[in-house]
Amino acid sequence: MTQTRTVRPAASLHGEITVPGDKSISHRSIMFGSLAAGTTIVHGFLQGEDNRATLNAFRSMGVKIEEPSCGDLRIEGRGLHGLTEPADVIDCGNSGTTIRLLTGLLSGQAFFSVLTGDRYLRKRPMKRVVAPLAAMGARIWGRGGGDLAPLAIQGGGIRAVAYDSPIASAQVKSALLLAGLYADGVTTVREPHLSRDHSERMLAYFGAEVRPFPGGVSVAGNPSLEGREVFVPGDISSAAFFMVAALVTPGSELLIRNVGVNPTRSGIIDILQEMGGALELTNRRELSGEPVADILVKSSSLKGIEIGGAVVPRAIDEFPVVSVAAAFAEGTTTIRDARELRVKETDRIAAMTSELSRLGAQVEAREDGMEIVGMERLRGGSVASHGDHRIAMSMAVAALRADGPVTIEDTECTATSFPRFWELLEEIKR
Ligand code: S3P
Repeated sequence: MTQTRTVRPAASLHGEITVPGDKSISHRSIMFGSLAAGTTIVHGFLQGEDNRATLNAFRSMGVKIEEPSCGDLRIEGRGLHGLTEPADVIDCGNSGTTIRLLTGLLSGQAFFSVLTGDRYLRKRPMKRVVAPLAAMGARIWGRGGGDLAPLAIQGGGIRAVAYDSPIASAQVKSALLLAGLYADGVTTVREPHLSRDHSERMLAYFGAEVRPFPGGVSVAGNPSLEGREVFVPGDISSAAFFMVAALVTPGSELLIRNVGVNPTRSGIIDILQEMGGALELTNRRELSGEPVADILVKSSSLKGIEIGGAVVPRAIDEFPVVSVAAAFAEGTTTIRDARELRVKETDRIAAMTSELSRLGAQVEAREDGMEIVGMERLRGGSVASHGDHRIAMSMAVAALRADGPVTIEDTECTATSFPRFWELLEEIKR
């Protein structure tokens, strides 16, 4: 039975909230904690399905990971060469980060492994990591000529390379850096725009020799990683739904505490501020090598803007909810250079265009983005999630300013990144 949620329009939103831990940082805390010598303690780990897939993968490779309390992990690191061959296929579920980063890491292991995922993940392109890893000496097989999971990997024999990535992708960059840990010499990845740099930051925090430079990053092979204490900040990609919710619902004021504001992730703040959104960052601090702040959001009259270029990878997961902000902004918003949205959990350009249209929004898909003409209100109705957590939550935000209830079908997917989303949304409604 698939789950359905009905969201009613809100008069206003108020309160002080926290959002669950950052998904990208949670994945990496398990990966680097497992490869380090000694114990790693993680606080604020995201208990979503994507991260559970990574946790189970490392348990299946012999890593002892305890969960002393909700959101806390104790990882007994096994050192760079301590993972053992998994006895079965590793199921990455819906998680692109799990499968792509593991493809890199497993390329460096002296054993055989197979990675697969759910029906959405098995449609997503893997060549982007498989091809450069093959150039490093990895032996990887998959459906569609090596492009689609399941992927079978015979690890070992990795050589350092310098790779110019045609796309700004943290998953590609991180897969190569992880494989590069097992090469002699220095592995370098360049990208057209800087993608999220959590791998680089956490590798450095655990003691690896990481050298970022304009346009790319290098890592030296065979590092000695030491177990650390990691504090995972709140996920800005989850906070984004509440930022837009408070901006577009008149009379709202919301304080979102403890949000990761790494500059490679904070494009959503820049975009919303340029649209005229009142967002204020306070209490700035640093937690385990990552910048964090509290974000105060007040409802605002938004205006349409042009979005493209370097901000796109800095906000790549937020475009579904940016399109909702644009649907209530005065004038036209144009999103360009965002072709990557077509190969996310679903084709997010097609999905948001079709679902916003069902509520009466004026929105057109472009090959590499969308054009949206804002209006005062949407209408109530019924929409689909396309099995994508961020489409489901974006449509819930759109529902807050509809003229009637909106029913969202197939909402279990929100468990991948934000298990308590629906409850939290109801808690702040007035
Ligand atoms: C992620 C990188 C991004 C992002 C994804 C998480 C990561 O993907 O969309 O949700 O944790 O490295 P790409 O590398 O495909 O852009």
